Amino acid sequence: MVTFTINGKEVQGQKDWTILDVARWEGIPIPTLCHHPAVEPYGACRLCVVEVDEGRRTRIVISCMYPVKEGIKVRTDTPRVQNVRRWIMQLLLDESPASSYLKELAKSFDVKPSRFQKAGVSFACHLCGLCVRACQEVVGIQALTFSNRGLKKEIASPLQMGSKDCISCGNCLYVCPSLGMEQLYARMRA
Ligand code: FES
Repeated sequence: MVTFTINGKEVQGQKDWTILDVARWEGIPIPTLCHHPAVEPYGACRLCVVEVDEGRRTRIVISCMYPVKEGIKVRTDTPRVQNVRRWIMQLLLDESPASSYLKELAKSFDVKPSRFQKAGVSFACHLCGLCVRACQEVVGIQALTFSNRGLKKEIASPLQMGSKDCISCGNCLYVCPSLGMEQLYARMRA
């Protein structure tokens, strides 16, 4: 077992656990968007940032991918952490203004859509990739994928066509935190 502290409280986790695993185990809240226990961590949203003091320096890390280490001091709610989370939330919201899930989440960070929000977006997806990973890792097929790059990046069926691989299991709908997957699913089945 690895022993360290979160917000001054001594905690323990197994060697292959992440900071987020231990925080969840201890009931310490850390916001997440792209994390789901059924799939491998992916580090897409960065909302789960925390501050880690490893003796020589203190830095901001993403807790869903950062492995626990003996003696580190983790803080989940410092002004620096809150500030970084607000910035990330602002970027996510401006990237995906159609996501009512993100809009609700943003309220808890006191973040509102800015004048830089992407225009003309009606798709509620915020590219957390949970649907793609659930399809690949849980179901074992590739009916979904990331398509394009940068501002044009989106979730789609391969070659943007109705997917023959899809077995209509609904796993993607189940893990999707927004309504984006419902919209895409309807497109795929059309
Ligand atoms: S939950 Fe950690 S990066 Fe998304």
